[in-house]
Amino acid sequence: MKLFLDTANIQEIRDGARMGVISGVTTNPSLAASQGIGDAEGYKTAVREISDIVDGPISVEVTSLDAAGMVAEGRDIATWIPNPWVKIPSTLEGFEAISTLASEGIKINQTLCFSASQALLGAQAGSTAVSPFIGRLDDIGQEGMDLVSEIVDIYKIHDIKTQVLAASIRHSLHCLMAAKAGAHIATVPYKVLLQMVQHPLTDAGMAKFMEDWNKAGNN
Ligand code: E4P
Repeated sequence: MKLFLDTANIQEIRDGARMGVISGVTTNPSLAASQGIGDAEGYKTAVREISDIVDGPISVEVTSLDAAGMVAEGRDIATWIPNPWVKIPSTLEGFEAISTLASEGIKINQTLCFSASQALLGAQAGSTAVSPFIGRLDDIGQEGMDLVSEIVDIYKIHDIKTQVLAASIRHSLHCLMAAKAGAHIATVPYKVLLQMVQHPLTDAGMAKFMEDWNKAGNN
């Protein structure tokens, strides 16, 4: 399972990329707004900077609600950077936009997926990846990870090539469980990436090694 960073914060992306474990980045209007980005020009500048840092797909979300608007935005986003994945929502208008853009060879990250039915529709429309939102399902008392497993199983049975991109990940256990469920990609906030590094026994082990080394006179 590949790891993407789920952020529009350039410093987090630089720091995450240095670890050498990040294969892509996902952004959305909320993440962009949290960085003070409030228009398409600002979004484009940030996305270009991200694309210079990370050599992999960068997901950029449309903000139109109608299919024609999404298609126009998607075509524009596709020219911004070498490896864009246009994020289109799992709506009636969204599926129409996905099928149009996918037929033109534009890569699609089908976002806001909350059911296996939506994932099945997206695959037929031509989504490159589908993003089930785990944390937001957990928030309403539904086991988000079950949706990841369900989509992975259905895609396997029918040999569907759309990738399952586990999104709305809130902690490191979500990421591990998505890997066990067979997700192809998990997009994680920087905070979760740091959680994945941490283990108290690693810290204690390092402290003991240094203590012993220093005791032997190696300062
Ligand atoms: C995915 O691409 C989305 O940007 C993201 O995972 C949304 O997660 P949230 O529920 O933490 O906002």
